[in-house]
Amino acid sequence: MVKVTVLGAAGGIGQPLSLLLRLNPHVTELALFDIVNSEGVAVDLSHIPTKQKVYGYGPKSKTDTTQLKAALKDADVVVIPAGVPRKPGMTRNDLFKINASIVKGLVHQAGLVCPNAFICIISNPVNSTVPIAVEELKKLGAYNPAKVFGITTLDNLRLEEFLSLALKRVNGASIDPADLRGDAISIGGHSGSTIVPVLNSWASSLPSSVYDTLLHRVQYGGDEVVKAKNGRGSATLSMATAGYRFVSHLVEALADDLIVDEVAFIKFDELPAKGIPNIVSSQISYFSLPFKLGRSGVKFVQFPKNLSDKETKLVGIAVKQLRGEIDTGVEFVHHSK
Ligand code: NAI
Repeated sequence: MVKVTVLGAAGGIGQPLSLLLRLNPHVTELALFDIVNSEGVAVDLSHIPTKQKVYGYGPKSKTDTTQLKAALKDADVVVIPAGVPRKPGMTRNDLFKINASIVKGLVHQAGLVCPNAFICIISNPVNSTVPIAVEELKKLGAYNPAKVFGITTLDNLRLEEFLSLALKRVNGASIDPADLRGDAISIGGHSGSTIVPVLNSWASSLPSSVYDTLLHRVQYGGDEVVKAKNGRGSATLSMATAGYRFVSHLVEALADDLIVDEVAFIKFDELPAKGIPNIVSSQISYFSLPFKLGRSGVKFVQFPKNLSDKETKLVGIAVKQLRGEIDTGVEFVHHSK
């Protein structure tokens, strides 16, 4: 029995993500909350024949929280893609003003109603919205470091796809991107230079110009989509796929009591962790890292081994940038009502 609640379920990411969750046999109840059209999306999905229950919730007025509370009641997993997406020329940080308050408000209710749920944040800027979620939950006494995640899976999807294309270009090798999963991973944060692809043994196959192009595409892949959509939003379908990959893994861990390998932006300093270099742990406490995940959350965090000199340098750059973005999130909670 796993109940998943999606907050922002009628949006560009929320709808396809909800569709994928509707088709997951482990999800016994799907609760869809949005400030617009959530009931329409729920009724639409309810015509897909599955054993799962699906309900839509939307506020009856600007100040109504009863519907949000009902959506969150008994939730095991709360996924948050609520907020505004980027337009051309915007960075993820430009979204902060609007999305910070939205995430804070939604996480506040989650902390009150389902304090034991896993909280998965998609709303950007993830590097700041995750610290907002953590600080808000701390204020409520509902914070569990093993259960709060910023979903950075899209960086991993891009890395797998773009690396397989780069390898094909260099030596004609046809490598299924699925075979790169878990071997080449993206760590750090979820914006531009905070994204650090770690290539392991694949690095040696790439001439430096190909590597530089790959690095740029992984770090700024989001811009390609924003530009191509020309004012009609940012990544939605690839993001829904990424969000589903993370959430379905989490649901699997819950339903089947499995230990799974995942990567997400987490607050690592209160978790069992190995190998975190001083350059990271002395300056920040959040980083996107690989971990073992079980029914009660993150069990063990492991910093990737054998980074190249280039990758180590990128970690240093990421830390510098992340420090400010994390502080912005923390300060937002402590300086707002
Ligand atoms: P969208 O505008 O299509 O959908 C957002 C939805 O949130 C809308 O349906 C809106 O009504 C809803 N919403 C707004 N305020 C709300 C509230 N207080 N409570 C509940 N729902 C609320 O945007 P899209 O494209 O779905 O993107 C959503 C967020 O995801 C953006 O912040 C975007 O930057 C972020 N994103 C994150 C990625 C990642 O890798 N983590 C990748 C791509 C986008």
